Amino acid sequence: MIYENAVTFVHRVLRDVIVPGSVVIDATIGNGWDTALMARLVGAEGMVYGFDIQPIALEVTKTRLTNVAAQVRLMLTGHEEMLQMVEKEHQGKVKAVTFNLGYLPGGDRDITTQVETTKRAIEQARRLLAPDGVITIVCYRHAEGQRELDSVRAQLSEWSQEFNTCTETIFLNQAGNPPVVFVVIAKV
Ligand SMILES: C[S@@+](CC[C@H](N)C(=O)[O-])C[C@H]1O[C@@H](n2cnc3c(N)ncnc32)[C@H](O)[C@@H]1O
Repeated sequence: MIYENAVTFVHRVLRDVIVPGSVVIDATIGNGWDTALMARLVGAEGMVYGFDIQPIALEVTKTRLTNVAAQVRLMLTGHEEMLQMVEKEHQGKVKAVTFNLGYLPGGDRDITTQVETTKRAIEQARRLLAPDGVITIVCYRHAEGQRELDSVRAQLSEWSQEFNTCTETIFLNQAGNPPVVFVVIAKV
């Protein structure tokens, strides 16, 4: 497995687990890069649910989906509502949920994901997962980001190893303040 940073690492994980026909969730669509990758991977038979609280994120993301065959449902809704927004028939069958926390790059830095809503969303993602599904979470280290990172680590550390493998990846020699990636793999 070759990857250079948090985003390429997450994309590698998504490529490994998502197959044509999968149902997946982008919990923070932002500029739509992860949504577009997921849509390509699930193909014409698959479905992508996307969440963001900023209209601009939905608008930009739509422009990246012009040649995509997958069914993509973009919602101007916080990811903490995902359990009630995902169709009943898809609950327990979601192959991947990806979170890229923080603020919209190039957007308003005051509009950022928050500890409590992120925590609720991650718990809901766990309940939506297929038996072999994954959750990926990229955490940044600005002020709210560091609180989220600590909260995510504490939350995942408490999940039973009988049902999930929870890992944390740190880019030790990367310049600046590189993000941290958590990956949860549900056990079949
Ligand atoms: C780092 S960006 C995501 C980047 C994106 N995955 C991409 O590929 O460009 C984080 C996004 O989370 C969104 N966000 C903040 N709070 C949210 C919430 N409660 N539910 C869903 N999205 C939220 C922000 O509006 C922002 O667009």
